[in-house]
Amino acid sequence: MTDARSGTNDLWEAIYTQRAIRRWRDEPVPDALIWKVIEAGTKAPSGSNLQPWRFVVIRDAETREAIAAELRQGLENPGLRQMIDNAIKSGPRGERLMMAGAKGLFENLASAPVLIVPCLYGLQSPTQDPATLLAGSSIYQAVQNMMLAARGLGLGTVMTTFQGAVDGVLRERCGIPAEATPAAIIPMGFPDANFGPTNRKPVEDVTGWERWDATRARD
Ligand SMILES: Cc1cc2nc3c(=O)[nH]c(=O)nc-3n(C[C@H](O)[C@H](O)[C@H](O)COP(=O)(O)O)c2cc1C
Repeated sequence: MTDARSGTNDLWEAIYTQRAIRRWRDEPVPDALIWKVIEAGTKAPSGSNLQPWRFVVIRDAETREAIAAELRQGLENPGLRQMIDNAIKSGPRGERLMMAGAKGLFENLASAPVLIVPCLYGLQSPTQDPATLLAGSSIYQAVQNMMLAARGLGLGTVMTTFQGAVDGVLRERCGIPAEATPAAIIPMGFPDANFGPTNRKPVEDVTGWERWDATRARD
């Protein structure tokens, strides 16, 4: 095992320790690493191999701050704030920590040195409707590839789907055309937190052998 903040070439270590990183060192990410992360995304499968994607890399501090400001404004919604504050106060420990982290990210998005915005573009397979679950199948594998590649390179990421809340500023600042659909915003940088291990349900609890409810213990 490598130390908790370094990169790794071990696929299994990367899978087992790739977790949501929401704090980053104030250190620029070299172009070469960003290229590698996005290239890993482009190796993902997509419907009919049409690769209906384009990745927008945002490093400009003013653009990051403009997006972050829009996001903070969304957080002014009293219902949303109350929901988050309640979860932080009284949820189970894991949820409390996750919500506190998520709130911190909402408030400090611009602290991520890089934002990657994977966009669906030219979507034809397995559907033409970007608003569907099926559309996601042609881009979210690229997203996971990128997050694992980043982990391998010692870069921390977190999956987020608040792109809709900042759609206007994102499109205006980055020139994203109406025919493209941002599918996520992935903040990325050198982590100021440790990678995994992650807390997940045991595989035995979520696997049915031949039938939905036919669980079994591992040998
Ligand atoms: C579809 C999706 C949307 C997410 N949206 C957010 C988000 O808006 N803000 C955030 O801080 N984390 C977000 N996350 C990260 C999850 O909270 C995180 O992956 C989960 O809690 C597991 O965390 P771990 O990998 O550190 O164990 C999102 C994850 C997914 C898969």
